[in-house]
Amino acid sequence: MTKTGFSIRRAVETDIGPIMEMKRRAIRESAKDFYTHEELEAWVESANPTRGREIVVDNEAFVAIADDGNRIIGLTNLEYLQAPDTTQGEIGQLYVDPDFGGRGVARALLAAALELAISHGSRQLQATASRRSEPVFAACGYEQVRRQMKEFNGHTYDSAIMMRQLPVGGND
Ligand SMILES: CC(C)(COP(=O)(O)OP(=O)(O)OC[C@H]1O[C@@H](n2cnc3c(N)ncnc32)[C@H](O)[C@@H]1OP(=O)(O)O)[C@@H](O)C(=O)NCCC(=O)NCCS
Repeated sequence: MTKTGFSIRRAVETDIGPIMEMKRRAIRESAKDFYTHEELEAWVESANPTRGREIVVDNEAFVAIADDGNRIIGLTNLEYLQAPDTTQGEIGQLYVDPDFGGRGVARALLAAALELAISHGSRQLQATASRRSEPVFAACGYEQVRRQMKEFNGHTYDSAIMMRQLPVGGND
């Protein structure tokens, strides 16, 4: 899959280091208008190698790669709410390098995850959207189901549960 200036591919284990570095920058720079400094720093701690393995190895992840420099500039992944049941998928991650924001990287990553979810027979995709990503999920066809105060690492984050129904019957 190639978009203007970047391409999307499945993530592999050796991507974990650069992915986590990019994720830390995305949280600190792109979400800074929406959460306190303390909340951002607590969130940044989720960008660690153990969680990286869960995201990339235990689940199915995609990265965006910049054409210029072969650098990882985005991440999403597909998880399942009640594995091995694949009918209810979840977008577990969505992060884009702040230097590449606003160029459709998140949209392309979400499209790749959606295509994979459909190929697995998923009927719907859920996401727990940050305040920063809510309008992005909305622009990509997700509707808010409810708000959620998400507990993580000693902090409480205002988030939105967003849902998108998928077409039935394989790829369309
Ligand atoms: C949220 C984030 C992933 C967006 O990445 P991005 O590559 O800049 O997003 P895109 O350029 O693909 O935008 C996708 C769509 O959302 C829209 N959009 C993006 N930001 C928006 C905003 N603040 N308000 C309204 N619409 C917005 C875009 O216009 C685009 O729609 P279009 O294609 O119809 O024009 C990125 O800013 C990020 O990593 N943020 C910090 C971490 C975070 O909050 N992650 C989410 C965890 S759930």
